[in-house]
Amino acid sequence: MLALLIFTVGLLHAHAVSMMNSTGTVNEEGVCQCSVILPDNTFPADRLEVLEVSSRELSTSVHQEIIKIQNYQATLTEYIFKLKNLTRRVEIIELGGISYTELDFELLKIEIREMESLVVKLKQSFNGSSTLVESLFVEIHNIAAMVNQLESYDKNNVLAVRREIASLRKKLEDCKKNQDIPTLPPVSYGTCNHGGLKNISKPFVVQLNWLGFTYKFGGWGKDTLVGAGQDLHWMSPLSTDARIMNIIRSYPTYEDLLLYKRPSDMVLSKTLPRNNIDYTSCGQGGGMILFNNSMYYNCYNTRDICKYNLNTGTVERKTLTDATFNNRFSYSSSLWQDIDLASDEDGLWVIYSTEENSGNIVIGKLNPITLSMEKTWVTTQYKPAVTNAFMICGVLYATRTLSTRQEEIFYMYDTKTNKDLKTSIVFDKMMENVQSVNYNPNDHKLYMYNDGYLVTYDLSFKPKENLS
Ligand SMILES: *[C@@H]1O[C@H](CO)[C@@H](O)[C@H](O)[C@H]1NC(C)=O
Ligand SMILES: *[C@@H]1O[C@H](CO)[C@@H](O)[C@H](O)[C@H]1NC(C)=O
Ligand SMILES: *[C@@H]1O[C@H](CO)[C@@H](O)[C@H](O)[C@H]1NC(C)=O
Ligand SMILES: *[C@@H]1O[C@H](CO)[C@@H](O)[C@H](O)[C@H]1NC(C)=O
Ligand SMILES: *[C@@H]1O[C@H](CO)[C@@H](O)[C@H](O)[C@H]1NC(C)=O
Repeated sequence: MLALLIFTVGLLHAHAVSMMNSTGTVNEEGVCQCSVILPDNTFPADRLEVLEVSSRELSTSVHQEIIKIQNYQATLTEYIFKLKNLTRRVEIIELGGISYTELDFELLKIEIREMESLVVKLKQSFNGSSTLVESLFVEIHNIAAMVNQLESYDKNNVLAVRREIASLRKKLEDCKKNQDIPTLPPVSYGTCNHGGLKNISKPFVVQLNWLGFTYKFGGWGKDTLVGAGQDLHWMSPLSTDARIMNIIRSYPTYEDLLLYKRPSDMVLSKTLPRNNIDYTSCGQGGGMILFNNSMYYNCYNTRDICKYNLNTGTVERKTLTDATFNNRFSYSSSLWQDIDLASDEDGLWVIYSTEENSGNIVIGKLNPITLSMEKTWVTTQYKPAVTNAFMICGVLYATRTLSTRQEEIFYMYDTKTNKDLKTSIVFDKMMENVQSVNYNPNDHKLYMYNDGYLVTYDLSFKPKENLS
């Protein structure tokens, strides 16, 4: 088209020159005369007209082509921009500037694939060669290769391992689906429709207490009243000497606990004039339990039981007659826990000992409103030989240490039959010392405070025996 335009202009130009290239003469009267010799005696007006028409047609089509090219260019600019962004992101990952996840890789790969297909389309519409598109295509291929390489360079092979785990998990799930023989009765939380404790899962570490691992003693959990709201999570690290419970911290949800977000602290001591501190309302040892939105615990330096209402902050207390305290008969792996509160499907319990029972465990059923003792059971199990104890469906379970890594439930006492029983349910520990264990009937889990770590265990139960 451009060549044609030049041709038209050239033709006109030649015409003018030939008109100019004339010889001039001056006649006798001094008048200048010019004679013009035209190269052709017939002017090609019809040819010019044809040319003009075709030129117009061509110029519209050139205009259209230019618009098309502009469109392509806009798309190309966009792609180039996108490509630069991708390149930058790949570079950042390559330099290890950010910690990347599999998700980042997957996103990058999807974007690259998208761009690749777009460029292929663009190439087709160009129908031929365009160096811009060609180089774009090459660049995208390079980036795709780089991302694949980066993934394989991942030093810890984390991604590969995670993929393997995912596939394994999938296989396991499929396996489970195919193997639909329910060996256990359906779980119904909050009820005792089973034949007692069967087994304990592996420990699941939820979090470290917020003060750190030097705070090795304390307790944690959720509200253990059957049917109570299960969102709130509490923890209460004791002073590092395992004695004073001064702060109850609560988190409104499990997620908040995991992130240490939105904590509320309830402080039990009072600061008196001249910097003296009144510990009267504080707790002692790791035997506390949350029941019906009140924390129940052994009051500091006494044989009293305290009830602290989380809503109102009021403290009620009542003396536990004959109970020994102040390390007379605490548990073997934690000091100051002479009086241990527990709760199960049947309500609130207290596990303690007396001089009269020679330091053996006494189980008491406690009225949660009046704090008075409703009934007691004496056992033959020496309390200081036990690491901790909890109640499930009116049965006491006591644990002892097997090794730094293993614990065993070795003793049971059924308050319904007044009989005790030796048993052996072995379970793993994360850390060496068990400082407190609470059972929650709402989720059939144990909540253990394990050298400062907050740990849970899932419990499984035997089917109910048929007494026919
Ligand atoms: C003009 O005409 C002369 C002869 O008259 C010729 O020699 C010359 O080349 C012509 N010039 C052009 C530009 O055509
Ligand atoms: C790349 O583009 C995304 C949006 O598509 C933007 O969020 C991101 O900040 C850009 N990255 C860089 C390094 O420019
Ligand atoms: C692409 O070019 C070929 C010849 O090189 C032609 O036959 C075909 O029609 C063209 N396609 C388009 C979409 O322009
Ligand atoms: C008890 O649970 C542990 C941990 O999940 C498991 O290794 C063990 O085989 C289970 N024992 C029984 C008797 O089910
Ligand atoms: C729980 O507390 C409420 C008052 O806050 C009381 O009415 C109710 O009886 C308590 N339930 C138990 C089982 O203690």
